[in-house]
Amino acid sequence: MRNFPAWSPGYRMKNNDFFKGRVAWITGASSGIGEALVYGFAERGAIVVASSNDPSGLERVKNNCSGNSERVFCVPFDLAEMSGINKTVESQVEKLGRIDFLLNLGGISQRARIDETPLWLDRKIFEINYFGTIALTKAVLPHMIRQQSGHVLATSSISGRFGFPLRSAYSASKQALHGFFETLYLENKKNNIRSSVIIPGRVRTAISIHALNAEGKEHGRLDDGQAGGITPEKAAEIIIRGIIKDKREILVGKGELMLLHIRRYLPWLFFRIADKIKST
Ligand SMILES: NC(=O)c1ccc[n+]([C@@H]2O[C@H](COP(=O)([O-])OP(=O)(O)OC[C@H]3O[C@@H](n4cnc5c(N)ncnc54)[C@H](OP(=O)(O)O)[C@@H]3O)[C@@H](O)[C@H]2O)c1
Repeated sequence: MRNFPAWSPGYRMKNNDFFKGRVAWITGASSGIGEALVYGFAERGAIVVASSNDPSGLERVKNNCSGNSERVFCVPFDLAEMSGINKTVESQVEKLGRIDFLLNLGGISQRARIDETPLWLDRKIFEINYFGTIALTKAVLPHMIRQQSGHVLATSSISGRFGFPLRSAYSASKQALHGFFETLYLENKKNNIRSSVIIPGRVRTAISIHALNAEGKEHGRLDDGQAGGITPEKAAEIIIRGIIKDKREILVGKGELMLLHIRRYLPWLFFRIADKIKST
C-alpha cells in the first residue's frame, strides 16, 4: 500500500477516522442518495442528524443503522416551511456541540413543460430546492464561523448546468444553488469553511416518481433513464470520496456526465441533441 503524507487527501482517504466523532447533518435522509449517505457516515463513526419531511421514513433509516443507530438523530421538517429553522439548528448545536458537515440533499424534481407549469408550481419547486436549502445553510453557517471550521454541500444536478426539457423550474432552482454555494465558499475560505456542489447525473432513486407534473401531482413512475442509473450506495461512496478530497464539484454518475462536457465545449452539439435525449 502506498504511504501518503499525513496532510494529503490520500492519507485521509485511507484513514477511516476522517469522519469519526464528527457531526454531519443530512437532508433528504429518508430516501435515495441522502439515505445512503446516512449509512455511509454512520458506518464511519459520524454522529448524524437526519432530516426530511417524513418522520417515519427517518425512523426506518435510523433503525437500519444497526449498531450505530444511537448516533443517528431524526429531525424532520418541511423544506418548504422554514420559519422555525434557526431554533431547530440551535437546539441541535446545544445537544451535539457542533456541526462539521451539512449535506443538503433534500429536493424535488419536475416533469412538465413551461407552457403548462403554473407560476405557483415554479415557486413551490424553488421553495424546496433553493430557499429551503439556503435557509438551513444560513442557520448553520454562523455556528461554523464560530467554530472556524465546517463543510457545506448542496446538491445540484447535471440539469443544474444546462436547461433540459420538462425541468424548467428544477433546472433553474439547481442553477441558482451554484451561485449561492460558490459565493459561500469564496466568502468563507478565511473562516476555514468549505463548500462543494454535488452534481448527480442519473442515480436509481425515487426522484422521478415524486417529481411534480403540471398539476403539482406526483409523476408516479420510475423513468427509464433513472432506472439505468448508478445505485444510491455508489453515489454515496463517490460523494464521501469527494468530501475527503475536498472537491469543489463532485460529479456523480456514468456516461450521462459527458453531457456536461458537451454543453461546455461543444454548445452547438448540445443544442442539437439535448431535446432528443429520452427525458422521461
Ligand atoms: N437521482 C438522481 O438521478 C438525481 C439526479 C440529479 C440530482 N439529484 C438530486 O439529488 C438529491 C437527492 O435526491 P434522490 O435522488 O435521493 O431522490 P429521493 O429518493 O426522491 O429523495 C429526495 C429526498 O428529499 C426529501 N424532500 C423532498 N421534498 C421535501 C420537503 N418539502 N421537505 C423536506 N424534505 C423533502 C425527501 O424526503 P420526504 O420523504 O420527506 O419527501 C427525500 O428524502 C435531490 O436534491 C435531487 O434533486 C438526483
